Amino acid sequence: MNTKNLIAGFQNADESQCAFLIKFLEDVGQLPLVLECFNLQLALLKLKKEYHVLDIGCGIGIQVQAMAEIVGTAGKVTGTDISSTMIEIAKSRLAASNLSVEFFVSDALKQPFASHSFDCIRAERVLMYIKNIEAVFTEIKRLLKPGGKFIVFDFEWDALVIAHPDKTLTRKIVRYISDSFPSGHIGSELHRRFKQTGFKNIKVQPFSYSGETDIGNIGLELTKKICEGALQTGVVNNVFTQKEIADWWQILEADAKRGDFFASYQGFIAVGTA
Ligand SMILES: C[S@@+](CC[C@H](N)C(=O)[O-])C[C@H]1O[C@@H](n2cnc3c(N)ncnc32)[C@H](O)[C@@H]1O
Repeated sequence: MNTKNLIAGFQNADESQCAFLIKFLEDVGQLPLVLECFNLQLALLKLKKEYHVLDIGCGIGIQVQAMAEIVGTAGKVTGTDISSTMIEIAKSRLAASNLSVEFFVSDALKQPFASHSFDCIRAERVLMYIKNIEAVFTEIKRLLKPGGKFIVFDFEWDALVIAHPDKTLTRKIVRYISDSFPSGHIGSELHRRFKQTGFKNIKVQPFSYSGETDIGNIGLELTKKICEGALQTGVVNNVFTQKEIADWWQILEADAKRGDFFASYQGFIAVGTA
């Protein structure tokens, strides 16, 4: 595996060059767009002081911390992640705080908690890395108290927009990137998954990471971090030639130098009650 392949990396962070993934989470966690998206989720969750919240695929615990500051010591925020490295970092980041938090290493498909333990469960940029979405939804429904909320933020990778003059190659690249995720189509599936699992009051609203204005000069850099490693596997698998990919990036780099680079990641915030 290319160790800088972010898409493969987040499926098995402990086996990859984890420092790259951790730095990515730290950088992305500070983007105004990401904070705006999290604030929209908080507005939908309406967390209360006594709530017990579960953050599945919590990574380094950035949002666990933010939610723990809201629920205070009357409540609790539990973070779980399949990666023991992520959980170690999350624990050490919050070790000195007095926040009511706990962390466990566990797969989203099988969480180590009794049924009806949580008031709210969230999963941000996690489901796209998991193949068996049906099993995750069933597990989350089991864990929620009746009336409890599940909120997801995830992308529809087939709808990735990268402005590039070579439309044919760009379509092929977008399709390859999307198919590199175990669930690259999760964005378009969310409504149906919530419905089929028996959730009520389902709302799905679009939220895209778009353009250069909000993400400053890192537009191309972010796209490179996300796509470059996966596209190299496309070269190794003879889907693309090295030259095709190098020329494709070169045009985007020239665009970025002129301030013309444009990419947009189509995401969805979906929420439902158990
Ligand atoms: C892109 S990160 C998002 C982290 C965090 N939710 C955030 O928004 O900063 C994806 C996380 O999902 C975790 N992950 C991947 N597959 C998982 C699974 N099957 N069960 C639980 N966590 C998983 C990864 O280890 C990684 O920490």
